Amino acid sequence: MAKNKTVYVCQNCGAESPKWIGHCPACKEWNTYREEIITPSPTVMSASNAPRRKPELLSGIEVSDSDRITTGISEMDRLLGGGMVKGSLILMGGEPGIGKSTLALQLALACRDRRVLYVSGEESEGQVKLRAGRLPGENDQCFIYNETELENVITQAGMINPHLLIIDSIQTLRSTLLESSAGSVSQVRECTAMMLRYAKETGVPVILIGHITKDGSLAGPKVLEHIVDVVLQFEGDGNYVFRILRPVKNRFGSTAEIGIFEMAGNGLREVTNPSELFIRRDRDPASGVSIAATVDGLRPFMIETQALVSSAVYGTPQRSSTGFDTRRLNMLLAVLEKRAGFRLAVKDVFLNIAGGIKVSDPAIDLAVVSSVLSSNLDSPVGHNTAFAGEVGLSGEIRPVARIEQRILEASRMGFGQIVISGYHRNIKEQNGLNIRSVVKIESLVKLLFS
Ligand code: TYD
Ligand code: MG
Repeated sequence: MAKNKTVYVCQNCGAESPKWIGHCPACKEWNTYREEIITPSPTVMSASNAPRRKPELLSGIEVSDSDRITTGISEMDRLLGGGMVKGSLILMGGEPGIGKSTLALQLALACRDRRVLYVSGEESEGQVKLRAGRLPGENDQCFIYNETELENVITQAGMINPHLLIIDSIQTLRSTLLESSAGSVSQVRECTAMMLRYAKETGVPVILIGHITKDGSLAGPKVLEHIVDVVLQFEGDGNYVFRILRPVKNRFGSTAEIGIFEMAGNGLREVTNPSELFIRRDRDPASGVSIAATVDGLRPFMIETQALVSSAVYGTPQRSSTGFDTRRLNMLLAVLEKRAGFRLAVKDVFLNIAGGIKVSDPAIDLAVVSSVLSSNLDSPVGHNTAFAGEVGLSGEIRPVARIEQRILEASRMGFGQIVISGYHRNIKEQNGLNIRSVVKIESLVKLLFS
């Protein structure tokens, strides 16, 4: 028998090296190399012993709707492009405590009258039972299995023959064929490959839960994302109740959709009307608050941006933002300084996007600028105005994508006016919604504060 070989594997990108190195030449991360032992047993996932198949004519291949399984969670079905495709491998990643196990268990309970095998390597059967007691839905065909050994999981899955298999989490699973510890790159890769083979051979959809490393990528190598069919990212700020489920990769649907959930005492609730949650219009208008019509994926919603501008206490003014890129904030402040003559360089500026969610939509610029100006002048913008526009370096207000959707959402939410870029063409007036066009920062200032 051949000798065991020791290699050092980067836990971030999966690169291998015969000796330990501190700095990964492939992904440039530091201190990511770990020793792993490779047993030269025939690899578990060798494609050669898969059943031989013949090429088929595309027109002759039959598919039906029954190739998708609808879960009881409509937000999830929509994200996946109309339900889980049979035999698909779905990876759900997210930070610890974000609610991955909760969502997975809720899904298992919502799949009414279908056999589901929920494998938990992190919680005992009793703990899962306790959690299930708090969640909505009931499924008397839901099996809970506390196991970390891959081979046992496969054996049990073969006996139970479930309609859906959930693995919580892929990092706790280990194959006895490999020496390295659970969670190491080679284990994660091997276990995922094995689950892929199981899914493709049996046609059972498999959901893998994966942890995310501190820099936001899925723990384990990028390779994982290539193996699986769907990658769903579960994100949100642990201090807030909102969670966003975002497909990063989807072989069977669009990646432009997002699902929004709210974490409540009894599990995750689907949010069908996000605008109502992210804006508060019941209190008196305050200065420094304006509302942006944003689009995330394909979903338009209204969100509140809040700014506080005060005289700098120290020599260097502070700039801080939550939910919005600080560099972009600095850029917008520089534009205000240069193009509109506001002396913001001697001011502390704080920016916050309500609800603890992160936005990267450039159309939110206009609302950010309005909030900053409003706080600086201590003059409220009012609840009746929405904003959608990007601000350029020369102070021009640039047009943004999906403007019709934004206008429609503002009108649906009962806004009186929406401020957009004057460069948009053929904008249809909406019932009761005034459209105000601006082309420059100066005209925005005039429109709002004079
Ligand atoms: P969990 O699903 O265990 O997170 P993950 O698997 O991603 O690590 O979710 C943990 C958090 O969710 C925990 O902090 C408590 C909260 N939670 C609720 O608020 N309500 C509930 O009904 C449940 C089950 C959890
Ligand atoms: Mg968990």
